[in-house]
Amino acid sequence: MTEQWQQDIEKWMKGGELLQATLSQLKRKDGDASPKTVVRPIQLKNGLHFQFEYHFANKVTHENVTAAGAAGRLIDLLSGHYRQALLKTPEADVQLLFSKKGKASVLTKAPSGGARPLSLEHNRQKQRVLEEGKAAPFLVELGIMTPAGLVHAKKQDKYRQINRFLEMVTDVLAYLPMDRELTIVDFGCGKSYLTFALYHLLAVEQQRKINIIGLDLKADVIAFCSELAGKLGYDRLRFLVGDIADYEELQSADMVVTLHACDTATDAALAKAVNWGASVIMSVPCCQHELFKQISNDTLAPILSQGLLKERFAALATDAARGTLLEALGYKVQMLEFVDPEHTPKNLLIRAVKNEKHAFSAKKWEQYERFRELLQITPSLESMLSDQWPG
Ligand SMILES: C[S@@+](CC[C@H](N)C(=O)[O-])C[C@H]1O[C@@H](n2cnc3c(N)ncnc32)[C@H](O)[C@@H]1O
Repeated sequence: MTEQWQQDIEKWMKGGELLQATLSQLKRKDGDASPKTVVRPIQLKNGLHFQFEYHFANKVTHENVTAAGAAGRLIDLLSGHYRQALLKTPEADVQLLFSKKGKASVLTKAPSGGARPLSLEHNRQKQRVLEEGKAAPFLVELGIMTPAGLVHAKKQDKYRQINRFLEMVTDVLAYLPMDRELTIVDFGCGKSYLTFALYHLLAVEQQRKINIIGLDLKADVIAFCSELAGKLGYDRLRFLVGDIADYEELQSADMVVTLHACDTATDAALAKAVNWGASVIMSVPCCQHELFKQISNDTLAPILSQGLLKERFAALATDAARGTLLEALGYKVQMLEFVDPEHTPKNLLIRAVKNEKHAFSAKKWEQYERFRELLQITPSLESMLSDQWPG
């Protein structure tokens, strides 16, 4: 006979009311069930599913189950392996406790509200460019997903970073020309996770005509990336060995990406982007050492006399100067938080798009000049773009 708690689970899952279920306290510790399992609704392209997240000691694995099959799966897991479950619905938090003989007692409390309503879960899922459960070949080759489309536990951060980057690109796609082939350059591309992701988004998913070039100083990573591009059949993605400052192959580009290119290599990339008239620039700077040696201002002694504070202040000042120079040149600039998988302070993305008018802004240039005077600095980006400034 079906018990009441089983009927409730059937009703909540089929009706999309279950916000989250957490199963814990294994009956037997020597079996192969995960010590904890968390179940959440997710909206996939082919309808509502429930994601079963199995937490083992050293790894987390995922399984997506259709709404029709999920209640049976949850009930089987609960009856077979766990002593306790917390089920969250919009109306209540329901705790199930199982005795040694398997008899359930049910405790109902007011909803904690901690779980995300299903409607929001839908939205979150929709915004993700790369979905779990759908294998993207480049992610499989780079060791982030399994061929079945599940993200490896250790690569969750990287996967989130790639998705976040693609979301931030998607937001500014309207600034790129639609009527011709796009040229995109990734300066300091390294192992090129994000370059491959861009190609996947634009050439594979959106079927746009593009030409992407990845440039890096390191011959070995470029050889790896070239081989992978060949293996994936990404024939409009080329990788080259070289220094950003010396790269002279192009006359124009539509988008320039530069992520974690060190110190003034970022400025070299930004200067190229501006001179090519790029419509979109995505830059995550790192190692902003240049201004650290230059900054001087007696009033700022409380900051500048402390090495750590000075370092952070110099990094902020560097990016503020870069942003203001781009604004002076007619770009609309946003400073966004970028998810860094290593949780380092290299977490700021400068996103610049070319305004329609794209006119020089004397106001921004004056702002920059005052800032430069205040801190006694001579940022490289200004000198790299010397022919752009008034008299
Ligand atoms: C920290 S890695 C970042 C790689 C990749 N963009 C990412 O975000 O995963 C920085 C890369 O920039 C490259 N790089 C630094 N300075 C460069 C320069 N002047 N020209 C070309 N590549 C440069 C390095 O070789 C390195 O691969």
